[in-house]
Amino acid sequence: MTQPSRIFIKGGKVVNEDYSVISDVYIENEKIVEVGPCLQIPAGARVIDATDKLVMPGGIDTHTHMELAFMGTKAVDDFYIGTKAALAGGTTMILDFVIPQKGKSLLAAYESWRNTADLKVCCDYSLHVAVTWWSEEVKREMEILAAEKGVNSFKMFMAYKGVFMLQDSELYASFAQCKDIGAIAQVHAENGDLISEGAKKMLSMGITGPEGHEMCRPEEVEAEATQRAITIAHSVNCPLYVVHVMSKSAAKVVSSARREGRVVFGEPIAAGLGTDGTHYWNKKWEHAASFVMGPPLRPDPSTPGYLMDLLANDDLSVTGTDNCTFSICQKALGKDDFTKIPNGVNGVEDRMSVIWEKGVWQMDENRFVAVTSTNAAKIFNMYPQKGRIARNSDADVVVWDPKMTRKISAKTHHQAVDYNIFEGMECHGVPIVTISRGKVVYENGKLNVSPGHGSFIHRLPFSEFVYKRIRQRDEVSQPTAVIREPYKGEVLLWHCEC
Ligand code: URP
Ligand code: ZN
Ligand code: ZN
Ligand code: ZN
Repeated sequence: MTQPSRIFIKGGKVVNEDYSVISDVYIENEKIVEVGPCLQIPAGARVIDATDKLVMPGGIDTHTHMELAFMGTKAVDDFYIGTKAALAGGTTMILDFVIPQKGKSLLAAYESWRNTADLKVCCDYSLHVAVTWWSEEVKREMEILAAEKGVNSFKMFMAYKGVFMLQDSELYASFAQCKDIGAIAQVHAENGDLISEGAKKMLSMGITGPEGHEMCRPEEVEAEATQRAITIAHSVNCPLYVVHVMSKSAAKVVSSARREGRVVFGEPIAAGLGTDGTHYWNKKWEHAASFVMGPPLRPDPSTPGYLMDLLANDDLSVTGTDNCTFSICQKALGKDDFTKIPNGVNGVEDRMSVIWEKGVWQMDENRFVAVTSTNAAKIFNMYPQKGRIARNSDADVVVWDPKMTRKISAKTHHQAVDYNIFEGMECHGVPIVTISRGKVVYENGKLNVSPGHGSFIHRLPFSEFVYKRIRQRDEVSQPTAVIREPYKGEVLLWHCEC
């Protein structure tokens, strides 16, 4: 019989989304067994002194693309390197996107992602699935994915014309299907037609560099699509999750829809909260290109602070990274034409520190936990298994030193990519211990991980946090016909004379 693994975290401040309290945390094997003050240290337990430290649920990154084949190349962070880097930054779970090619089976793509990721992940993970085309077969496969395969979120693209983009009627059909199967509809909200026209215009004007990437798709292109997606989702009473909210304009659309009572969630990402789009005008091509992602970072330097304010106020709900990393030689596929620069940036390792550093003005420690972990667990139906320090929750924990600092650099990060968009940023707030599934996987700057340590997290449909309101609305706001006496008067009949 193997001994159970026992970890005792002593004397830290346990921070959940709703309150903080000085407590001990006792972990046995993969679960939190007890949380409370002055617990007895069980025999054989490894003790971690957390005095003056915060003990928080491990971060959940809602948006990654590990080893994604995209725009003629493949993202360099694979599921092993990417999840290792996540753990070094205090993130203990990622949600990655299965993206089937247009016309191809969603189920086959899902199986292929599972086959790759299961063997490599160092932390727990789950999968969203993209709907890149529409047919009865896609509709059927969505149902199987939700009922049997642990997928309760589907991403629809309103951009990448001719590749992944759906028409409005297809968005309508896929949102309606999400609603029927208890899933959350996610959108990449940008008007793909306008981007395509805008890009042609920029190139015809001789603008071929990374600045053209932002100029061909200004904020209103994102805001218009965001509003359109919200309108379509509302027409079928389907919950909507807007991935990578990058602009003030789009964030305002999400925020005012929430105030009108729509069931919509907005996800800003570490890049949009920690830096801005002024880099696209940098004189060094490789510097400017490293920031290229879609939707683009915005040149208005007040954008990150604005998005952070909305995140602090619950106008925006969760944070991801859109981690999709291409090294400079891959970005160089677009050296003469910005439309060919592979879209994507880093973030999986630095998200927690960047949000702590930049959000300290607007947020307290509890809101920090809500936006980096708990809200994601609730929306995607993993709560309180994930996103909470409590008895019976998974032992995914980060011991956080709010006073310690570190400087972000590509020279020291654990990711495979050869730059870091946060290069030189000094961050207060550092993970000193990360625990994944009850195992210390990162401690004082050292990783101790093994591929396959993480597990796939099966997510059931009809998350209460999301669907309770949806059901309520269905019950109280069904359109009804007016009961009338039938019309009995004359009806004009018209005969064509031809
Ligand atoms: O630039 C990005 N966002 N790359 C990944 C694909 C996507 O749209 O999320
Ligand atoms: Zn996207
Ligand atoms: Zn993405
Ligand atoms: Zn006639």
